[in-house]
Amino acid sequence: PKLIVKATVVRHTNLTSQVKQLVLQAPDIAEQTVPGQFVHIRVADCYEPLLRRPISISNVDRANGTIYLIYRVVGRGTQLLARLKPGDLLNCMGPLGNGFTLQGERPLLVGGGMGLAPLVYLAATLCPNPVTVLMGGRTEQEMFWTGIFKSLCENLHITTDDGSLGQRGITLDLLPELLKSKSFDMIYTCGPSRMMAGVVNYAATYEIPCQVSLEEYMACGVGACLSCTCEATNGPRKKTCTEGPVFWSGEVVL
Ligand code: FES
Repeated sequence: PKLIVKATVVRHTNLTSQVKQLVLQAPDIAEQTVPGQFVHIRVADCYEPLLRRPISISNVDRANGTIYLIYRVVGRGTQLLARLKPGDLLNCMGPLGNGFTLQGERPLLVGGGMGLAPLVYLAATLCPNPVTVLMGGRTEQEMFWTGIFKSLCENLHITTDDGSLGQRGITLDLLPELLKSKSFDMIYTCGPSRMMAGVVNYAATYEIPCQVSLEEYMACGVGACLSCTCEATNGPRKKTCTEGPVFWSGEVVL
């Protein structure tokens, strides 16, 4: 069941000057959510802008009834969010969307930039299976993700555009070598569409099942407005908010 709850801000911290982590007390959402789902939130009692913002759930602490959101401050909605302080209330709808299918024993997670957010909760859920993560970002500063993933899995492979951390280049530069040297039985990817398209191609070459998590513009979040549709390989366009955001690689055109 979908919930609309008043969630209380527990912690709100800066991960970089533009990226923040919000920890919300939302026990019902924490209880129900699975990796890959998102919440649709707006600042309580503030109707400007009217639309909500979809943010993927980056982790869950069921014992404490909290959910973790990592977001980049990019526009008016997220600027309003960025002002929230511990104790403030947020109107929060969720958990929404279709999450990842958990299968396989040797998963590979490939994430770029903010696309790494839903992969944190996925990695935490896939443990104790040996999880390998291939992650990319622009600079070392943007790769605060390594600290988060290090506590969850041992096999981290890192690329940065400027070479300030890990290998210089992009995730797709490292992927072929990784696929050759290890046998993965499932690939999950989230990030820029060009990166995901490349991952999907390699997954097809190596005949490994692959799921992609899309980030489309969303308005209603519940399948009513059609603002979030993406091209399907067969048949009518698909709604990212209700049929996704996670799809099998063969279902959608990237
Ligand atoms: Fe309205 Fe998906 S956001 S249909």
